[in-house]
Amino acid sequence: MSESPLRLDRLRDFVSALGELLDRHPDEESVLREGRSLLGELVRHDDWLPEEFAQPDPERYQQYLLHADSRQRFSVVSFVWGPGQTTPVHDHRVWGLIGMLRGAEDAQSFELGAEGLRPIGDPVRLSPGQVEAVSPRIGDIHRVFNASPDQPSISIHVYGANIGAVRRAVYLPDGSEKPFISGYSNQFLPNIWDQSKESARP
Ligand SMILES: [Fe+2]
Repeated sequence: MSESPLRLDRLRDFVSALGELLDRHPDEESVLREGRSLLGELVRHDDWLPEEFAQPDPERYQQYLLHADSRQRFSVVSFVWGPGQTTPVHDHRVWGLIGMLRGAEDAQSFELGAEGLRPIGDPVRLSPGQVEAVSPRIGDIHRVFNASPDQPSISIHVYGANIGAVRRAVYLPDGSEKPFISGYSNQFLPNIWDQSKESARP
């Protein structure tokens, strides 16, 4: 059986469209609204993410940088959860969009009060094709976990900065903050710019 070529053009089109959107200097509400529909279109298909950026690790969830804007206005990251893996409670300090590609994840939002951390509502389940948003304006503290006990799950995250370099925080149950810079799990990025094989596609 011959394998069909990866549709990396989908990722290239997405980062081009997001760059054009940000060129218009829209307010955050517009970025989230229009970005949500762009990301929704990207994660509606599961035929473009190279295997290297879809690998779980037995120890901890992985965050593979897929693209960083040359002016660090945004970054695109594939988050890969092994069965049962979870993030700590954390914030972002910039806008973010989370699009589910494969499997399912649950996100629990929190607010910080005098009593410490308090969950807001029930966890929200994300299924493939769905997109959620975070930001300091609309709610920025959450914990995300793989909803599947026996399968990896993958979501595609977009943030309004080079998120792996942002100084942000993880939170202990009493509400105290621990400084945190996430970095990335990969050293090399997918090549979205070689278009030589795409022109041969019917
Ligand atoms: Fe997050």
